[in-house]
Amino acid sequence: MKKYFSNRIIIKVIPLCAVVLLPFNKVLAQTKAEDAKMSVFVNGLMSKMTVDEKIGQLNLVTIGAATTGSVVNKGVEDNIKKGAIGGVFGIWGVDQVKQVQDLAMKNSRLHIPLIFGLDVIHGHRTIFPIPLGLSATWDMGLIKQSAQIAAKEATAEGLNWVFSPMVDIARDARWGRISEGSGEDPWYGSQVAKAMVQGYQGSNMKNADAVMACVKHFALYGGAEAGREYNTVDMSRIRMYQDYLPPYKAAVDAGAGSFMSSFNTVDGVPATGNRWLLTDLLRNQWGFKGFVVSDYTAVNEMEAHGLGDLQTVSALALKAGLDMDMVGEGFLLTLKKSLAQGKVTQQQIDLACRRVLEAKYKLGLFDNPYKSLNAARETTDVLTAENRTEARNITKHSFVLLKNSAQTLPLKKTGSIALVGPLADNQRDMLGTWVIAGEWQKSISVMQGIKNVIGSGVTINYAKGANITEDSSFIKRLNFAPGMVSIDPKPADELLNEALEAAKKSDVIVAVVGESQSMSGESSSRSDIDIPESQKNMLKALAKTGKPLVIVLFNGRPLTLTWEDKHASAILDVWAPGTEAGNAVADVLFGDYNPAGKITATFPRSVGQIPIYYNHKNTGRPYDGKGPSKFKSNYLDISNDPLYPFGYGLSYTTFGYGDVKLSKTSLKGNEALTATVTVTNTGKYAGEEVVQLYISDPVASISRSVKELKNFKKISLQPGEQKEVSFTITPEELKFYNSQLKYDWEPGKFIIQIGTNSSDTHTATIQWDK
Ligand code: NOJ
Repeated sequence: MKKYFSNRIIIKVIPLCAVVLLPFNKVLAQTKAEDAKMSVFVNGLMSKMTVDEKIGQLNLVTIGAATTGSVVNKGVEDNIKKGAIGGVFGIWGVDQVKQVQDLAMKNSRLHIPLIFGLDVIHGHRTIFPIPLGLSATWDMGLIKQSAQIAAKEATAEGLNWVFSPMVDIARDARWGRISEGSGEDPWYGSQVAKAMVQGYQGSNMKNADAVMACVKHFALYGGAEAGREYNTVDMSRIRMYQDYLPPYKAAVDAGAGSFMSSFNTVDGVPATGNRWLLTDLLRNQWGFKGFVVSDYTAVNEMEAHGLGDLQTVSALALKAGLDMDMVGEGFLLTLKKSLAQGKVTQQQIDLACRRVLEAKYKLGLFDNPYKSLNAARETTDVLTAENRTEARNITKHSFVLLKNSAQTLPLKKTGSIALVGPLADNQRDMLGTWVIAGEWQKSISVMQGIKNVIGSGVTINYAKGANITEDSSFIKRLNFAPGMVSIDPKPADELLNEALEAAKKSDVIVAVVGESQSMSGESSSRSDIDIPESQKNMLKALAKTGKPLVIVLFNGRPLTLTWEDKHASAILDVWAPGTEAGNAVADVLFGDYNPAGKITATFPRSVGQIPIYYNHKNTGRPYDGKGPSKFKSNYLDISNDPLYPFGYGLSYTTFGYGDVKLSKTSLKGNEALTATVTVTNTGKYAGEEVVQLYISDPVASISRSVKELKNFKKISLQPGEQKEVSFTITPEELKFYNSQLKYDWEPGKFIIQIGTNSSDTHTATIQWDK
């Protein structure tokens, strides 16, 4: 305390603290008592367990289809009966889960309940936008709500553990899994991580509608070289701490119950067997108390990483701090032998077993192993009209208006529309990557959504216009599961002519194009991040008609849209929007909702600019913003600027920003500063704006990023309305990791920047001394 407050303020603060601390102390005492009860219970149970049963708890298996690898576990039923399995994933539904839980409860010697997990990533049955889209809402309430609904639906179908949130920072749009995270910014990613964990776990994981979160992929998975899936990651400690680790830490602070280790190496050692990562950092420095599960066969994959045979890598992983082995059964098959040979200790096995049992305890599974198995909830809580309504609302908040020349949007609810493109009359691709239990047949296509919203006032002239792609080898890869991409047998020319005919008859063209479901997500890296050629050819031909061309863009990553930005009248980015896709798209296209989403990952002009992110370093020869010049850090053939910067997104209305007003310009020590701007709605529509605060630290002991996001506020304004938006800034916002990895701030000049996106800000300078 003393460190942060002057004496005068302490006097005022003490009585306040007393009031606040009392209930806090009570909570602390309750937690301690609860922990003590848990220890007594787990000690008692463990005293009865054999080594085999303890190792069994560390074994997580999948039943049914291979989820994200070629391995599927065999002999699961026998192993459950023997107590050789601690958890199961890949099934859901009360009947199915009950059958499997029965195997453990009725047949295993100690009747230890199984934990049931699943990849519930952006919704369970009601599917929300992919996480990159959700993050574009800049609305933590909505993000949390999406996780709450997912938890409610998942528990209604027997689950108690979700493999989410993915909090990997990603700055390379070639990487297909950029779709599963919240973009490039560590501070923003930390807010989302916290909201998701809170949404899933609620106030108590014992609650009937709460699940345990599994934060992944620990760590740095988003830093894969060249954006190539599963590739090597190699980065400095400073970059790790400053830019990549904060969201994982935020998830620990939010109380996440479990973590998943990543496939990649960290500082040369695979994350799954990296003791520095799983023990020194995660547990000792950050205080994580839950358990760590490996990613799918990641223990076995340490063999291919070159760390030794299965027995060696399994022992390495356990000793590093890995508690549960997903699918590969390295723990199950080798740990006992390693124990006998002195390669692992009984304490190491016990510690991992204890952590898994504690998780089950915290979930209330020992109180009631059938806790999530209430058949009635399957009908009352899953894919309900209410959940769909919430999803529609969340979804429309995730859309980003990238371009809108001559106020092409919103469209009128009269006249005629040429609705074209392979994603226009399409249900399957509405859901995006990772929809295990979501059924695409339940999703609303854009065509259906438009009909729902406009009734019969508008004539729709539909034509598919193009296939997703005409590249047969690409199609083969996209169709890793049958029917992912269906190709129209008509020749490309014929499809295109139909689209041109539709355009001729219509006032405006709405082209629904972009990436299909399997173009992003795991194992879906792309070296070319354009809209595929077949669709682009269609867009080019449509642009030549001279009719207003609106692009409704589906994408699991930032795409290169330089041509589209130049030639389309409007571009609405809808990501992969989920079950309510079409309804939400129509709400926005026809102005029932004014879009306010902002991108959380930079859109490059060209794939050659990657990695590109707003919070880069200045370099010794910075680009001057005026175009390439000799002996500067730039390219010969392209500007350094992105097409759309981090935080960018338009509205149907316009917003004017006043100058930044500061409560003081010179500060000392732990004072606080208030920075205020006046934002005015200068257009014709009511709208929401995300007001963003960035800070630059131009002189420090290390080279700092040119700016860093530190806060934001989302406000609503009626036409002509003005609001003052204020941010409180304390030394906390000035801190960074120095070369000794000490997290602190250094005195000097700081530039406060407030604006509508990371490139368009108003600035004011302050001096802050220690
Ligand atoms: C591999 C993926 O990397 C991970 O995100 C997922 O949770 C597991 N497979 C389980 O399906």
